[in-house]
Amino acid sequence: MLARGVASTGPIGKAYWGMGTVVEQTLAVNVEGKGIVLISGCGHQSLERMLERARAIFDAPVYGVIGGLHYPATGFRDAPGYVAALIRLSSTGEQPWHGPFGKSDIRRAIATLAAAGPGLVSLSPHDSRDWTIAEFARAFGRRYRELLVGREIVVD
Ligand SMILES: [Fe+2]
Repeated sequence: MLARGVASTGPIGKAYWGMGTVVEQTLAVNVEGKGIVLISGCGHQSLERMLERARAIFDAPVYGVIGGLHYPATGFRDAPGYVAALIRLSSTGEQPWHGPFGKSDIRRAIATLAAAGPGLVSLSPHDSRDWTIAEFARAFGRRYRELLVGREIVVD
């Protein structure tokens, strides 16, 4: 607990090929009448593990997910192709011969999140590029909010 209604999920690790285990925490805000809004930084611990941890430690349901989820399914606007290729290979959590992280991984993630029935989704562009953000926006419709620096997100 960090304050009344505000907590951390605690550290959650995920192994990435070539990077070792990356450990991150997710901020969790209990919004009255709604449920838990998860706020992630880079999201390297994975959406699945965030949801799993939230369900294990909180009584309220997950209402929203805001922030980075590390979904490098396509190329990067601001990096050479070989950099994007390496990031995509390291991002599956599997050995590189498993293949790169891709669009099917995004569709699976959207299905996982949709099954949680969130009322609010807002994906950061950290390692999630235009195609992925557009897929999330399309999948969640009015429940999706564009995440921009300086723009408030009101949970309603
Ligand atoms: Fe990342």
